[in-house]
Order: sequence, then C-alpha cells, then structure tokens
Amino acid sequence: MAEQARIGQLKDKVGREVKLAGWLYNSRSSGRILFLIVRDGTGLCQCVVEKDRIDRDVFARLKSLGQESSLTVTGLVRIEGRSPGGLELALTGAEILQETSGYPITPKAHGTDFLLRHRHLHLRSQRQWAIGRIRHTIVDAARRFLNENGFVLVDTPILTPVAGEESESLFKVDYFGTSLHLAQTGQLYLEAAAAAYGRVYCFGPTFRAEKSKTRRHLAEFWMVEPEVAFVDLEQLLELAERFVCSIVHRAAAECNVEFEALGADTRTFEKIRPPFARLTYTEAAELLRSEKTRDFLASQLERLMDRRNVTAGRIAEIESRQGQPLKQRRKDADAAELIELRRRLAEIDAAVRNNPRHAELAADFEWGKDLGGSDETIISRMYEKPVFVTHYPKQAKAFYMKTDRSNEKVVLNFDLLAPVGFGEIIGGSVREDDRARLLARIEQQQLDVENYRWYLDLRKHGSVPHGGFGLGVERTVAWLTGERHIRQCIAFPRMMDRVYL
Ligand code: 4AD
Ligand code: MG
Repeated sequence: MAEQARIGQLKDKVGREVKLAGWLYNSRSSGRILFLIVRDGTGLCQCVVEKDRIDRDVFARLKSLGQESSLTVTGLVRIEGRSPGGLELALTGAEILQETSGYPITPKAHGTDFLLRHRHLHLRSQRQWAIGRIRHTIVDAARRFLNENGFVLVDTPILTPVAGEESESLFKVDYFGTSLHLAQTGQLYLEAAAAAYGRVYCFGPTFRAEKSKTRRHLAEFWMVEPEVAFVDLEQLLELAERFVCSIVHRAAAECNVEFEALGADTRTFEKIRPPFARLTYTEAAELLRSEKTRDFLASQLERLMDRRNVTAGRIAEIESRQGQPLKQRRKDADAAELIELRRRLAEIDAAVRNNPRHAELAADFEWGKDLGGSDETIISRMYEKPVFVTHYPKQAKAFYMKTDRSNEKVVLNFDLLAPVGFGEIIGGSVREDDRARLLARIEQQQLDVENYRWYLDLRKHGSVPHGGFGLGVERTVAWLTGERHIRQCIAFPRMMDRVYL
C-alpha cells in the first residue's frame, strides 16, 4: 500500500509510491495526458495522469474536475525539473471526495473587496497561503528567541480597566455592569511580572479603536512584548536588534518555498545584521526638513515614473495578445501576471500621487509632533536596514515613558522603522521608575489614578530601571513579505471601516 504523505515531504520520497490528500488547484490536459496541480496546505504538486495507466472512468472524471474539488491521489514520486518544487507524481490512482464546480476565485483578476468578502476561500490562494506560513514562522521565531534567552511567558489580561496607550483608542466593554476595555497592550501587567521573573514577555491580540484607515492599521492586531528588569535604553536597542535579526534569518531559512511563491528576494535579508542605525528624534526632524530629503523625494519620483512606464508597457503587451488564440496554459499565466502587474501599477500610482504631499509634510515638520506615517516612510526608505529613532518629545508619547534626566523635554524611548518604507514595527521605552514623576504624568493625562494604584505601587517596592518593547506581528509580516497592506497579513482582518467575516 502507498504510504500517506504531505507534499512538503516529497523531496525525501523520490522513487516511492505515496498517497496525497488535497484539493485540485489547477489542471490542463493535452490529449492523452492530464496535468493536475494538487495542493494540500504544505505546497503544490504536479500530478501527471496518462490515460492508459489509470482506470478509464477515473480519467474521465479527473479531466472535468473543477477547481477546489477534494481528492486523494496515489502515484510514484519522480524528479521533474519543470514542475513546481522540481518533483511530480506519476498517478496510478485517484479517489474523488467531493466534486465541485463554480469556485468563485479563479485565476482572473478580482477586486480587493470581493477577495475580502471571500476571505474564507481566498486563504487557499498561493499568495495568502505563503503569507500565512511566513507569519507562522515569524511568530514561532519570536517565541523561540525569547524562550531561548531566559524570558518567561506571562499571559496578560485582555479585559482591563487600565489604558496603556492613547485613551482615544479604547474599545469599551460592558463587564457585568462596569466599564472595562480591551487591552491595547500587555505592558503595564508585564512590568509587575518583570519584578517577579526578571525577564518576561506576552504574546497576544491587542485592540485599538484608532480612527485610521491606513494600510498600517488594524483594529485588532497581534503584538509580542518583552519586558526586562535592570536595563537601559542602549541595552534595549541591542535586544531589539538581536530579536529582529533572529526573526528575519529564521524566516529566510525556513520559508524558501513561500518567499519564492511571493516572488520575494530573500537575499536582502542577509544584510539585516546588527548594528542598526540610531537617530534621535531631533536628528530625524532635521533630516526631514533637509535638502537631502527634498532631493531624495525628487529622485524617488523619477524612479517611480520609470517603474510606471515599464509596468504599464508590460501590461499593454499582455493585453494586446488577449484576443489571440493562445494555449490555455499561456492564457492562465498571462491572467496571473496581469493581476500582479495591475496590483503593482496601482501601488506605483498611489506613491506618485502621495509624493508631493509627503514632501510638503516633511519640509514643514515641527519639533514636538509624533512622526507621521509618511515621515516614517521617508526615513525608512533612506536605509537598507531597520533604523532606530530615539528620544521623542515627552508631549508626543505615552505617560509611562521615562523622562531623560539630561534633557527633560524628551523621553527614553525608541521606535524601530523597517526599511524600504514599511514604517514602525516596534515601539518601546525605558519606563518611568520614579513614583512621584509617574503620578504627575498620570494626572497630567487625566487618567483615573485609582486604576493605577497597583502600577504606582510597583515604584514603591523595589523600583528598578526597566523597560521593554512591542513588535507588531502584522507589520513585520508586511515588511518581510513585501505585502503593502497589513490586512493581508492576518487571516481574518478587523479594519476600522469593514469587518467582512
Ligand atoms: O508603539 P505601540 O503603541 O507600543 C505599545 O503598545 C507598547 N506598550 C509596547 C511595549 O513597550 N511593550 O505599539 C507597538 C507596535 C507598533 O510598533 C506596531 O508594530 C504595532 O504595535 N501596532 C499596530 N499594528 C497594527 N495596527 C495598529 N493599529 C497598531 N498599533 C500598533
Ligand atoms: Mg508606537
């Protein structure tokens, strides 16, 4: 009997007879031979069906089988350079579990809205599949790094009376008659736990009712937050650097197939090694207003126009041959390429439209404001590696950040901006450990002091310098996969204006 196998393991099974269970991804026939592309969640496998080698009836049914029909296939694993993964299955048998027709997601172009409404099915497409697997590896790498470096996992509550970040972005929950909200961060609880274990982390969903419809914002996103007792800002930066590098390198090492499916070039990940550049906020503000930034944005606009021409030319070329009698295989490949090219063109057009406004915002940047999305994009595009921005103005940041004793206007915090325009992926800081100063900041921000009694208490019983940071999972996935919009980086996204399913 053929042994049960999954496609991801086939490279170790050349010359053996195996049975796969999966779904029909695509198929084409050329006379007496049928090529079925089967997917099983671990990859794609080309199955070759020769009419004379298989039951006649089965051949006929396979030939007309619709996309996403479920089936098992049995056959011999052999090397074939032209098929995905370099292997194929020479079919000797098949069993159809469910025959289906009219699968709504076909190789032709679909709008974003249509795909989001069909997310329950869209998850099966190659692109979403690859992104999801890379996300899994990123999450696993983050956990492994922390577990291997002496961090203890502490699961912090989701229902909470305290606000960690801006109080305007709280989701209220009626909790048996009192009002609580969904956690924006696990940080405040982690600070208590850090005094118990020294090094801790939490990893969970976090919620922000931010009125932002940008490509970088979700109302529900996942964050991993390490917190360390006895640490200063420089040590936190070093930890963040090592953490990010280990995630990037593990994803590059373990997700070859997935990055290839996305057409992403993992060679650039090689360069992601410590140290990352460090800019203070004040330096970043000067950089934004500088000639250098103006020239940089102008040269970017030129590059964008060049890319636009190349992409539009290629689209026209493919469109011009669409009326011609082409083989189905060619038509499918063209359709897939068109989807990708149009997506790219839309991105380029958006960037061209935004360029002048972003230049204006940068030129007028005022010290004291938080960096906006476009400011982050500009800075991060100037670097090949992630870049730290430190020492933000106190007025722009959360109450818990420690004031820099050598410059009371700024706090000991940092954001890590991912390269090539993905913006902030980490936010972190040293925490205010002086009780009186912390109380003053809580009162200043008009938070209900009663809710923070326990938090203030931590500064009474063995207060130590401590700090930590939070890495946004979806933003990290977007950066590494080259996916522009973070809604594609979580299976079932929650956006401010839309919840589909
Ligand atoms: O900078 P933030 O708000 O930091 C905190 O929540 C700290 N309490 C973390 C800590 O020090 N323990 O958020 C951290 C990261 C951001 O850098 C970003 O990657 C992600 O969380 N993030 C979001 N991701 C998607 N959608 C949103 N609305 C996000 N808001 C923050
Ligand atoms: Mg932040």
